[in-house]
Amino acid sequence: MIVVVATRDEVMAVQSRLDDLGVGAVRVVEPSADRRLLLAPVQGESAAEHLAATLRAEGRIAVTRPDDGPRLEGWMRHTLPITFGDRLSVCFAWCEHDRSALPGLIELGLGGFGNGGHVTTRLLIEQLMARIRGGELVLDVGCGSGVLALSAVRLGASLVVAVDNHADAVEATRRNAVLNGMDDRIGATIAALEQIEGTYDAVVANVGRAAIVELAPQLIRLLSPNGWLAVSGFSPSVCSLVAEFLLPLEELERHVSGEWSALVLGRVDRRAQEPT
Ligand SMILES: C[S@@+](CC[C@H](N)C(=O)[O-])C[C@H]1O[C@@H](n2cnc3c(N)ncnc32)[C@H](O)[C@@H]1O
Repeated sequence: MIVVVATRDEVMAVQSRLDDLGVGAVRVVEPSADRRLLLAPVQGESAAEHLAATLRAEGRIAVTRPDDGPRLEGWMRHTLPITFGDRLSVCFAWCEHDRSALPGLIELGLGGFGNGGHVTTRLLIEQLMARIRGGELVLDVGCGSGVLALSAVRLGASLVVAVDNHADAVEATRRNAVLNGMDDRIGATIAALEQIEGTYDAVVANVGRAAIVELAPQLIRLLSPNGWLAVSGFSPSVCSLVAEFLLPLEELERHVSGEWSALVLGRVDRRAQEPT
């Protein structure tokens, strides 16, 4: 079986293309008002993979999926939307579950790390949910799929610069920005942080200890005076070490979830705390 992602307006064109490719008996699923999924039976896994690849080469989001049985049950569990509080939800574009009532939905296409399911991603999404007030300029370092950039915009950020050192992550973020109608508010680049100018109200970096240590001077430089930096991707045992590399930023919060942790840091104005 293959699943082809379309909008309501694209259904006829996709159906006609599948027809040209010799695929019939297409079933259309409507998981939300605008999203349509065309499920097409294809005999054999390699034929299905080949067909999905052909459609992807034409710019469509197309994936193979199990026909039935325990593998389909596993697939359905794996594609369940993830909801964060009452303001944000994330799912794959090919998710067949009803998502019409989900709050602040973000859809993800193919490529790039991060579907919201990993603890380190969740720790930073929780910071975005707690701290984004609206109108912020955000820097997403190590954007992967762009899930943090997309979340920031969904929560009210004005603009996000998303950076990754892998071209496929940058491409995935750009595609996901278009998929969610956010390409006017998210700019993705492979540029090194040294080349990024200005300062940001919020900087998020789920890149692991080694990259945070390597990028620390840039992360500090790029944070605006009243901004906050949230980093993740390291074990609780190295939190203090990571925080030391980010001095003179001060640790504001530390969050631990199982084997993973996140730090939130900012500039603390000591003079403002001195008694007058
Ligand atoms: C764990 S993924 C995080 C993806 C997404 N931001 C999330 O939170 O789910 C880490 C990403 O950081 C990128 N990365 C690692 N080191 C980097 C560096 N020095 N500069 C830019 N990106 C980096 C990787 O390519 C990868 O896409």
